Amino acid sequence: MSRDAHLDPSLHRGRRQRLLDSLGPGVLIVPTARETKRNGDVLHEFRPGSDFHYLTGFPEPDAVLVAVKTDRRRHRAILFVRERDPAREIWDGPRHGSAGAIRRFGADEAHAIGELWRKLPDLVPEGQPVFHTLGRDRDFDRRLLDSFAAAASRQRRRLLPMHPPIVDPGPVLARQRQVKDRSELAAMQRAAELTVAGHIALARSVRPGMYEYEAQAVLEAEFRRGGSPRNGYPSIVASGSNACVLHYHENSRRMRAGDLLLVDAGAEVQGCTADVTRTIPVSGRFTDAQAAVYRIVLRAQLAGIRACKAGARWDAAHRACLRALTRGLVELGVLRGDAARLVRDQRYRPYYMHGTSHWLGRDVHDVGGYEGADGAALPLPAGAVLTVEPGLYFGPRDTSVPRELRGIGVRIEDDVHVTRGGPRVLTDAAPKSVDALERLAARP
Ligand code: GLY
Ligand code: MN
Repeated sequence: MSRDAHLDPSLHRGRRQRLLDSLGPGVLIVPTARETKRNGDVLHEFRPGSDFHYLTGFPEPDAVLVAVKTDRRRHRAILFVRERDPAREIWDGPRHGSAGAIRRFGADEAHAIGELWRKLPDLVPEGQPVFHTLGRDRDFDRRLLDSFAAAASRQRRRLLPMHPPIVDPGPVLARQRQVKDRSELAAMQRAAELTVAGHIALARSVRPGMYEYEAQAVLEAEFRRGGSPRNGYPSIVASGSNACVLHYHENSRRMRAGDLLLVDAGAEVQGCTADVTRTIPVSGRFTDAQAAVYRIVLRAQLAGIRACKAGARWDAAHRACLRALTRGLVELGVLRGDAARLVRDQRYRPYYMHGTSHWLGRDVHDVGGYEGADGAALPLPAGAVLTVEPGLYFGPRDTSVPRELRGIGVRIEDDVHVTRGGPRVLTDAAPKSVDALERLAARP
C-alpha cells in the first residue's frame, strides 16, 4: 500500500456522501481536534479529530468541514483552513492553505478559517437542519449559535428561528465508521504488522535490570521505523505487580529477574490504531505459577476469538472468556465450586474486572454501539474490528489467593476482524504460546 493511498480525495468524498445519504437533507459541520497546551508555550502533539480526518484526510489544526448535500448522489464539500502565511510557516511548517485544500484534498471550495462564522449561516438552506455534535467543544458551539443568531437578527422582520434545528450526526457516523472500508482495513493491517514487530523486538531485547521505559523505547522505535508517526494511545509497559494496574503508563520501574512484563501498545497508521497486549517473562522463562496463569488466560483468549462470528452477540467473546477464566481460577485453587454458578455469581471479578472487547479503529476505544435501546447486546457486524483481551490479575497483597500467585498480572490481547468467513486475527503474527515466548527470549 502506498503511504499516500489514504489521501485519495475520492475516498473521502465517498465517505461523506454515504454519511449525508444516511442523514438526509441538511448541512454537516465537523471541526477537527483542537490544539491543546502542554506547559508554558509548548503544545501537545497535534492529532486530527477522528471524524474529521475520516471525512477529509486533512491533517492540519484549525480546520472545519461543512458538507452540503446537493442531490441524491452529490454534495459540496467546503473546507475552512488556515491560510498560507510565510512568516508563521517559518516557525510551524508548511500549510496547505485553501488552494491546497482544493487541489490535494478535493474540497469543492475552501476558505480561510477566519471566514467560517461569517459564511456559515448562508451555507445552510432555509428550513434545513444542521448536523453537528454539540457538547464536545463549548467554544465552537457558542460561536456556531452566535453566528446563526446574528444572521437571524439581521433579518428580524421575517421572524426567523434563532438557529436551524441541530441534529447530532454522531450515532449515524459511528455506525458507518464501525464497519471498516478497504483503505482503513489496509491501514489497520499495517498498524497491526508494526505493532507485532514492536512486541517481537521488545521480547528479544528485554532483560532484568532494564527500565520499563527502555523496553518502551525498543517497542516504539520499531513502530516509527515502519512508518507509524505516533502511537494510538500511551504504551503500557508494566513489570511485576504494575501489571495489575490496568492503565499503568508511568513505565518507570526497573525490571527484576523473575518478573513478568505486560506490554499493551499499538502503532497508529494513517489515523488507525492496533491494540495488542503480550505478557512475557523478563528473564526468558516463566515460573510454574506464571505459566499456569498464562495458559489459562491464553485458553480463554482463544475461546474468545473463536466466538467472534458475524451475527453473534458482540459480547460472545466476553462470555466465552468468563467461562474459561473461571474454570481456570478453580484449577488454580483460587475459587471453589461449580464453574457455571461461579460465573453467574461473578466470583471472578476480584481477578478479572474489565471487559473483554472494545471496537477498534481510529480511536483505540472506537465508536460503535454495544447495546440496543432494550439493553440487549447488539450483534457483531461483519467488517467491524474488535479486541479480545482477557486477563487475570492477582494483587501483590491479595491474601485470597495462594502466595505464589500474588503480584502476577497477565493479559493477552489481539485485534479481530469480523468477517462472514469467521474471525480474522490481524495481529496473529505476535507469538503468544509459552514455548514461543520463551524461544523468542532466547534470542537466536
Ligand atoms: N489498550 C488499552 C485498552 O484497551 O484499554
Ligand atoms: Mn484494548
